Amino acid sequence: MQGWNLRLAWRDSQKIKINFCTLRTMEERVLEIIKRYEDRNSKLLPILHAIQDEYGYLPKDAIKLVAKELGKTPGEVYDAASFYSFFYFEERGRHIVRVCNCIVCNIKGSEDIIRAIEEKYGIKEGETTEDGSFTLEIVEGLGHCESSPVMMVDEDIYGNLTPEKALEILRRYEE
Ligand code: FES
Repeated sequence: MQGWNLRLAWRDSQKIKINFCTLRTMEERVLEIIKRYEDRNSKLLPILHAIQDEYGYLPKDAIKLVAKELGKTPGEVYDAASFYSFFYFEERGRHIVRVCNCIVCNIKGSEDIIRAIEEKYGIKEGETTEDGSFTLEIVEGLGHCESSPVMMVDEDIYGNLTPEKALEILRRYEE
């Protein structure tokens, strides 16, 4: 029992170390990114893009740091970023699952696919699974109507889906 408690205490101490490490790394990385654009006149958007490329979204701490370094308020940076639909403010999954629900896919059963994914992974549109594997997005038109219903996982397109096929495909991406 005592050994078990020791193991837990050791594990918790490792978690704390990892968190400190992650925070320090984020500050260093963001400062590095800001420095990369220091000679540019309009640098806010390129900086935000680079941060999103690095983290998959714009973490709050990164927004605060960018604001401080560029002499703006965090609200100003957030307002500028939220004007564009391609910036994300919540952590996203390692894999982005986009299911098309436009008219052709819808007629061919995309809602059954969406429901199957929601039930299997316990997430709704825009949400990320607890283990961080998947973020579900419902989109309008993936441009492959001839193989509808269609979903896209990261950059890969899958067509002629049934709910079973879609779940089988997602199983391959589980980590
Ligand atoms: S309607 Fe879904 S790809 Fe065209």
